[in-house]
Amino acid sequence: MTLDIQLTKIRQELTLSAEALADIATSFRKAMVEGLAGQPSSLKMLPSFIGLPNGREKGSVIAIDFGGTNVRVIEAELDGAAKIEVRQMKRFPLIDAAAGYNHTNQEADASQLFGFIAARVAEIAKPGASYPLGHTFSFPCEQLGINQARLIHWTKEFRTRGVEGQDIGALLGAALAKAGLAGVKGVAIINDTVGTQLAAAYSQRNIDMASICGTGHNTCYLEPRHPLSGKPMIVNMESGNFDGVPQTRFDVAVDRESERPGAQRLEKMVSGYYLGEVARQVLSTLAVEGVLPASEAFGRKQVLKGIDLDRILADTGALAQTAEVMQRCFGLGSLSAAQLSAVQEVLRLVARRSARLVAASFQGTALHIDPQGAQAHKVAIDGSLYEKMPNYALWLQEALDEMNPASRGRLSTVLAKDGSGIGAAIAAATVGMAP
Ligand code: BGC
Repeated sequence: MTLDIQLTKIRQELTLSAEALADIATSFRKAMVEGLAGQPSSLKMLPSFIGLPNGREKGSVIAIDFGGTNVRVIEAELDGAAKIEVRQMKRFPLIDAAAGYNHTNQEADASQLFGFIAARVAEIAKPGASYPLGHTFSFPCEQLGINQARLIHWTKEFRTRGVEGQDIGALLGAALAKAGLAGVKGVAIINDTVGTQLAAAYSQRNIDMASICGTGHNTCYLEPRHPLSGKPMIVNMESGNFDGVPQTRFDVAVDRESERPGAQRLEKMVSGYYLGEVARQVLSTLAVEGVLPASEAFGRKQVLKGIDLDRILADTGALAQTAEVMQRCFGLGSLSAAQLSAVQEVLRLVARRSARLVAASFQGTALHIDPQGAQAHKVAIDGSLYEKMPNYALWLQEALDEMNPASRGRLSTVLAKDGSGIGAAIAAATVGMAP
C-alpha cells in the first residue's frame, strides 16, 4: 500500500467527529453520576474535603508540589485579602543519574522518597519556625479527610516501593519528624487538579473545573452539593482512568506495553507521557507497512519526548525540524518530503485527538453541573500540553465550540500556571486557620 493510502486509513482512525465527542461527553457524565453514587465506574470521583477559597486565608505556609519527576517546595505568605506572595520556590529532581539516585523506580522505597522530600523542606523552612504545610500529591488517593490520603495506586509509571496503600500524610509526617522539622505540620493533602482549581478560584470567578494537561491527565470540579457533606466540595474525578473512549490498535499497543495495562485509558490517549508513545506506534506501523524506513528505535519506549513533539508540530516550510527529530530519535536521515509531511500529520492527528478527547470530558462535566447549559463555565488548566504544545489550546476550544454550537465560548479554558503548588499553599492556610 502507498503512503497516501496508509495515511488516509490512519486519519480515519484518529479523527473524532463532533458526534463522537458528544457521545463520549454523555458517557462521561453517566460515569460521573455512577462514581458519585458509589456504583462501579471508571471515574473514582474522590472527595477532596475542601471547597473553594474565599480570599481571607492568611499566614506563612510551606507547600510541596509532588506529581512528576521534580518536586517543588514553596514558602508563601497569604495576606488575607486574596494576595499570595511566593517567598521561595525551589525545584528538585527525583531522578539524578549523576548523583546516583532515582526515587521513582522500584529500587527506591517510601522512606527514601519521603526522606528526600523532608530534607528539601528543611532547605526552605526557616529554622525553628512553625508553618502549616500543604502537600499536592498528584496520584489517585482515597481521601478520608483533608489530611488523610491513602495512595490507591501509582500512575505515570512511578514504582517506588511501600507507598501504594499507605497514608501519604503519615509517611510525610514521619519523615518531617525524622528530619527534625517539629514546627512544620502537614495539614492538607490535595491532588494537583484540586490545587489548580483552588489557585485559579482564589482570584477569578466561574472556575468550576480544573485540569492538568501535562505529563499526566486528570480533571476535578466543584460538586455543588456533595453527598458526604451536603455542601460544595471539589471532587477529584481521576478522569485519566475514564474508559468510555474508543481505543485504536495504536492505543491497545501503548496500553499493552505500559506498567499497568487496562488502567488509565484516557490518560494513555491524551497525556504528555504517552502521546509520544502513541505516535511511535503509528510511525512504527508505517515502517512495518514499508512506507517509512525501518528503525530499531521504533521499538524503544519514550524515544519521542514532549519537546520533540512540539518541534515537529511547530515546524513549517521544508520541515527541517521534523527531519532533525527523525534523524536524532530514529536514525532516519534521508526521509523524502512526503514522508516528513506524513510524520508531521501523524503527530498532529495524535495531538489534536488528545485535545478533543479532553474537551469531551469537560463537556460531560459541564452537562453534570449545569444540565440546562444556563451558565458560562471556565476550566483552569495547567500543564505543558496546554501551555506549550502548538495549537493544543486552540484545538481544545474548537472542540468545545463544536459541542456547543449555539453558545460558542460558553465553556472556555484559562491557563493556571503553577496552580498546583499555589493551591497547596492556599489549602494549608485554609486548614491552618480553621478553629
Ligand atoms: C494522576 C492524577 C493527576 C494527574 C496529573 C494522573 O496520572 O492519576 O492524580 O492529577 O496524573 O498530574
